Amino acid sequence: MSRKSRVEGRGLAASTTRVVAKASKLRPRLAIVLGSGFGPVLERVEVEKEIPYAKLPGFPQTAVPGHAGKLVLGKLGGTPVAVLSGRAHYYEGHSMAEVTFAVRVLAEFGIRDLLLTNAAGGVNRRFRPGDFMRLTDHLNFMGTNPLRGPCPPGLKRFLDLSQVYDPALGGLLDKAARTARVRWHRGVYLALSGPTYETPAEIRAFAKLGADVVGMSTVPEAIVARHLGLRVAAVSCISNQAAGLSPHALSHDEVLATAKDASRHTGALLEEFARLYGRP
Ligand code: HPA
Repeated sequence: MSRKSRVEGRGLAASTTRVVAKASKLRPRLAIVLGSGFGPVLERVEVEKEIPYAKLPGFPQTAVPGHAGKLVLGKLGGTPVAVLSGRAHYYEGHSMAEVTFAVRVLAEFGIRDLLLTNAAGGVNRRFRPGDFMRLTDHLNFMGTNPLRGPCPPGLKRFLDLSQVYDPALGGLLDKAARTARVRWHRGVYLALSGPTYETPAEIRAFAKLGADVVGMSTVPEAIVARHLGLRVAAVSCISNQAAGLSPHALSHDEVLATAKDASRHTGALLEEFARLYGRP
């Protein structure tokens, strides 16, 4: 995206926000981005309004199986929420501005807290498919940064990332994980551009660098959300052991199949988190 279109992009976020605001009277403070395999969470949402991404100017169309594109306004665990079902990925060819556009709209809409979810490969040898991990920090190996380029007036040029993932929201996730009885970890997410999976040599290197899981999303949205002053929390569902740690080859089908098996736990975890968020 050119400088001009990025500046226009900010105006577009404001006009897309008006479309969302007109669709419903609901004004949630919490938004949840559903990653690969987290879609079944929607079955637990009391839906007030669904808006397909096609009706939201600036929202990129996503084409990855398991990533249906719609914005849902409703209640989860009795708490008003905005749910983004499906996200745009950098590996699809979208620019970082496009990948993070939805977060700008959410911030403009009045969202204060953002829960990002994803499927990830387990680098930590203690992690098993079907386990969950909340992010305590990340390593950005995507080769770019979503804040590269002109800095909007009033926002920080050099953003502090000492604490991207909010400890208070993390505490609520820990509590929700105990109630939902999921196998639970805390750790570091390493983000790559994809779309290939990693080589075993890369995974051995990333383990030495401190990564617990690897994935292809979440970090751009987390950075932009922090820039806009939102509190951020993030959860990975471990869909597979990373390359070289298990005898078989990796596939997106395996990622989706594990996520599907874990969907009852995923739903219980997110519903309990939303409930606790509404009444801590
Ligand atoms: N690597 C990168 N991204 C992923 C993986 C993986 O093993 N599993 C799910 N998303």
